[in-house]
Amino acid sequence: MKTIGVLTSGGDAPGMNAAIRAVVRTACESGMTVYGINRGYQGLIDEDIRELNIRSVSDIIHRGGTMLYSARCLAFKEEEGMQKAIATCKKFGIEGIVVIGGDGSFRGARDLSLRGIPCIGVPGTIDNDIVCSDYTIGYDTCLNTIMDMVDRLRDTVESHSRCMVIEVMGNRCGDLTLNSGIAVGATAIVIPEIHSDVEKHVIERIRRTQKTDKKHFIIMVAEGIGGVAELAKKIQNECGVESRSMVLGHVQRGGSPSARDRVMASEMGYHAVQLLMKGIGNRVVVIKDDKMIDLDIYEALNMKKPVDETLYKIAHEISI
Ligand code: F6P
Repeated sequence: MKTIGVLTSGGDAPGMNAAIRAVVRTACESGMTVYGINRGYQGLIDEDIRELNIRSVSDIIHRGGTMLYSARCLAFKEEEGMQKAIATCKKFGIEGIVVIGGDGSFRGARDLSLRGIPCIGVPGTIDNDIVCSDYTIGYDTCLNTIMDMVDRLRDTVESHSRCMVIEVMGNRCGDLTLNSGIAVGATAIVIPEIHSDVEKHVIERIRRTQKTDKKHFIIMVAEGIGGVAELAKKIQNECGVESRSMVLGHVQRGGSPSARDRVMASEMGYHAVQLLMKGIGNRVVVIKDDKMIDLDIYEALNMKKPVDETLYKIAHEISI
């Protein structure tokens, strides 16, 4: 392969820039031409593309967001959009693409691969919900951002003897909520993989800790559960503790990537280009049991992710 493209798609994640940098530099060092495709698949449809060289990716490793911008492109799901994207690849001589994004982005990568443009997926999302990978770029930074914000909330929650019900991102995956919940010492952690009767669970947890004379409470709720304002009201009524709610929102997606995200992104970007160099496509680079491997995209999309029940059990026992 002589010419490749790189794009970021779906929700942005800290560390995407480090992955772009690794892709561009690895490819350039091997004499390839690299095109940066702006705004994900939309850029392929609109021919919003520019050539990148090793200096184009200077001074981005420490920046959040993505220098290639991102989008969730509905037009690419239609055959017309797909054909336009393929025509753009032909026009620019793009023979393969590294797609940095979540599982929605990988479906696009699989469809392009099946139509003759080999793509390699690199998992980039704060959600850690790429089933086949133990880790996704952006997750570690996001976890630390949540922890910092909730630590600040704890100061005021403690001063006022209140309960704070906090909604955490993660789409339908509870990983961010469970892990940040443990890190902030939450009284209750509510995730879609485990809970059905949310109110009962949370109120029982608060009453249990109230008996040990605890006066302030942090409740972490995954966005896949939602309803934090209603839950706060219910807690106030049933447990007699003044309660507030907060949706942490998109601030969770920003900020300078952690060392772990930068290193992981650099490794994954490098690995993706090695595959394209061998003419291999339709694969996704993943971390499994601390090893970097690659899997067929189709298989990867069909795996089921179990929740870490041991970790949940630990959280449940120690949050008294
Ligand atoms: O996938 C990342 C994510 O931030 C999810 O946690 C959240 O559900 C979603 O994206 C929000 O999407 P948008 O930025 O389009 O509102």
